[in-house]
Amino acid sequence: MDILNKVRKYREDEDRLKWEGTFAEYIRLVKERPEIAQTAHSRVYNMIRTAGVEEIEGQKSYNFFNREMYGLETALERLVEEYFHPAARRLDVRKRILLLMGPVSGGKSTIVTMLKRGLEQFSRTDEGAVYAIKGCPMHEDPLHLIPHHLRDEFYEEYGIRIEGSLSPLNTMRLEQEYGGRIEDVLVERIFFSEDRRVGIGTFTPSDPKSQDIADLTGSIDFSTIAEYGSESDPRAYRFDGELNKANRGMMEFQEMLKLDEKFLWHLLSLTQEGNFKAGRFALISADELIVAHTNETEYRSFIANKKNEALHSRIIVIPIPYNLKVSEEERIYQKMIRESDMAHVHIAPHALRAAAIFSVLTRLEVPKKQGIDLLKKMRLYDGENVEGFNDVDVAELKKEFPNEGMHGIDPRYIINRISSAIIRKEVPSINALDVLRSLKEGLDQHPSISQEDREKYINYIAVARREYDEIAKNEVQKAFVYSYEESAKHLMNNYLDNVEAFCNKNKLRDQLTGEEMNPDEKLMRSIEEQIGVSENAKKAFREEILIRLSAYARKGQRFDYNSHERLREAIQKKLFADLKDIVKITTSSKTPDESQLKKINEVVATLVDEYGYNTTSANELLRYVGSLLNR
Ligand SMILES: Nc1ncnc2c1ncn2[C@@H]1O[C@H](COP(=O)(O)OP(=O)(O)O)[C@@H](O)[C@H]1O
Ligand SMILES: [Mg+2]
Repeated sequence: MDILNKVRKYREDEDRLKWEGTFAEYIRLVKERPEIAQTAHSRVYNMIRTAGVEEIEGQKSYNFFNREMYGLETALERLVEEYFHPAARRLDVRKRILLLMGPVSGGKSTIVTMLKRGLEQFSRTDEGAVYAIKGCPMHEDPLHLIPHHLRDEFYEEYGIRIEGSLSPLNTMRLEQEYGGRIEDVLVERIFFSEDRRVGIGTFTPSDPKSQDIADLTGSIDFSTIAEYGSESDPRAYRFDGELNKANRGMMEFQEMLKLDEKFLWHLLSLTQEGNFKAGRFALISADELIVAHTNETEYRSFIANKKNEALHSRIIVIPIPYNLKVSEEERIYQKMIRESDMAHVHIAPHALRAAAIFSVLTRLEVPKKQGIDLLKKMRLYDGENVEGFNDVDVAELKKEFPNEGMHGIDPRYIINRISSAIIRKEVPSINALDVLRSLKEGLDQHPSISQEDREKYINYIAVARREYDEIAKNEVQKAFVYSYEESAKHLMNNYLDNVEAFCNKNKLRDQLTGEEMNPDEKLMRSIEEQIGVSENAKKAFREEILIRLSAYARKGQRFDYNSHERLREAIQKKLFADLKDIVKITTSSKTPDESQLKKINEVVATLVDEYGYNTTSANELLRYVGSLLNR
C-alpha cells in the first residue's frame, strides 16, 4: 500500500524534524540560523522566492504560483513586489491588511489556499522552520522572552529586531513555572497546519447577529474561573480564536468587507500595532499576515462609506483580474476538469480553445488603436504573430486599459456549461460545437448578465465559432493529406520534374509512352496559386526551388516533402483542393459506398492516432467539415 507508506513517512519526517530545548539552546540555534527568527511576512516572501523566480522579458514569473495559476504573471508580480517583498523587509506595508480584489472565480481563493498549503510545507523545511514557546496556545515567539531593555543589545549581537511583548499568559508562566529564569523556558519547533490550527487561521463571517468576537480573539473559560479565582487570570482564558491560532503564520478573512465594524477594528489594531485586545488583558502581540479577498462592487461600496475611512488607508489592495491569454485559459479549464468528476470524459481537441476564445473576448476592452480589432488584440495578447504589429504595440494596447480583465465571463461558468453539455450527450465525448451551443444556452439562464452584454456575448460566440471552423477545416485537411502521404509525395515529384524542365528549357519524357512533352504549365500553376504565387513571380519561385534542390543535391541530402516550407503548404493545399470533392462526398454522404467508407475510416484512424480524437469526435468532426464544405 503506497499511500500507507507515504502516511508513515510523513509522520516519521515530522518526528525527525521535531526539536525541543531550552531558550538558552534556542538562542544558540538563532545565532547559527537567524532565518528561524524571521517575521511571518518574511517567511512568506522567502517561501515564494525559494521556489524559484524566473525573469522573462522583464516580467517576473514565480514557480511557487506557476503550478496552479495561469496567465496572472503581472498581477502576481505586483502582489510579490508591492506587498510581500517590502513587507519582508519590515517596511510599512506589512502593517496593512492585504486585500485581493477581483472578479468572481478569478483565482483569489486559490492564491490564498496556495499560500496556506505552501506555508504548511515550508514550515517543515530548514529555511522555513518555526519555533515557539512550548505549550503556548498562540505559539508565541520565544524571543519575546527577552526583556525590552535588553533588545537593543540583542540587536547589536544578533542583528535581529524583536517586536512585541511577552503575552500575559507566558508572563505568568515564566514566573510560576520557571521562577523567572528565561533561559530555562522550553521552546519547541512547530509545524503549520490549518487542520490542527497551528499558524493558519480562516474566518468566514456568519450571520452578523450571532457573530461572536470570541471566534477571533478567544474567550473566558468559565469552567476554570473557580480554579484560578478571577476572570483576569490568563489561565482562565482560552486563547483559541482564529487570530490567536494564526499567530506566526497567516490569517485568511473570507468576505472581509461583510464583517461587522467591531471586528474590523480588531484587525486594524492588529495590523497597525501588531497587537490586539483579548478579554481583560493587556494587548496581545501577534505577528501574522492578514489576507482578505473581495470583489470590486463590494470594495467600491466599502470605500464609499465614510465610516470606513480609517480602515481604508490601512488596506493594501492588489487587483487580481481574469487571465487574458487564450492558451492559458485553456490550461485553466484543463486543470479544473482534471480536478472535477468529468476527468473521464473525452474532450475533443480545440473544444476548450473555442470556449477560451469566447471567454477572453468577453473580458477584453475594445482597443482604441487604429487598425486593430478585438480578435487581433486577443491574438497579440496570447503572443501570436499578427502581421503589422509588434511587442511595442502590445505594450501600448495594455496601457490603454490598465484595469482590464475585471469583468466578463468566469472560468467556472465555462466549466459548468461543459458539464451540462456532457449530461446531454449519450456518450461521454464532447466537441467544440457542443460546448459553444451550451455556452449560448447558458447565457439565457445567467442571472447577472445585462441584455446589452448578452447580445455582445452571443456575437463573441459566433466569432469563436468562426475561429473554430477554420481550425476544423485545417485539421481535416491535414488528416486527409496525411492519409494521402503517398499522393502528396507523388504530386511533389511531379511538380519538381516540371520545374526542372521549365527552368532548363527542357522537355519531359512520358514514362509510359516515352513521348516528349512540354512542361505542364497548368499543373505547376495550380500548385503555385495555392500559396498566392502570381504569374509574374512564378519564374523566380521556380528558380528558387531549383536552387534549393541543387543545394540539397550538392550536400548529398534528399530533397523531400519537408524541405521547403511553402512548397509543402502549396502541395497540401492543392491536394486538399483536389480532395475537396472526395471530402465533401465522403463526409456528407449518408450512405457511403465501400471505397468512401474505406477513406473515412483511414482519416478517422489518422485523427485518432495523430491528433487526439476518439472515434466519436473524429466522425463528428468529419461530418461537420463536410457540411461546411457543402455551404
Ligand atoms: N488565472 C487562473 N489560473 C488558474 N486557475 C484559475 C485562474 N483563475 C481562476 N482559476 C480557477 O477557477 C476556479 C475559481 O477560482 P477561485 O480561486 O475560487 O476564485 P475567486 O476566489 O476569485 O472567486 C478555481 O478552480 C481556480 O483554480
Ligand atoms: Mg473565492
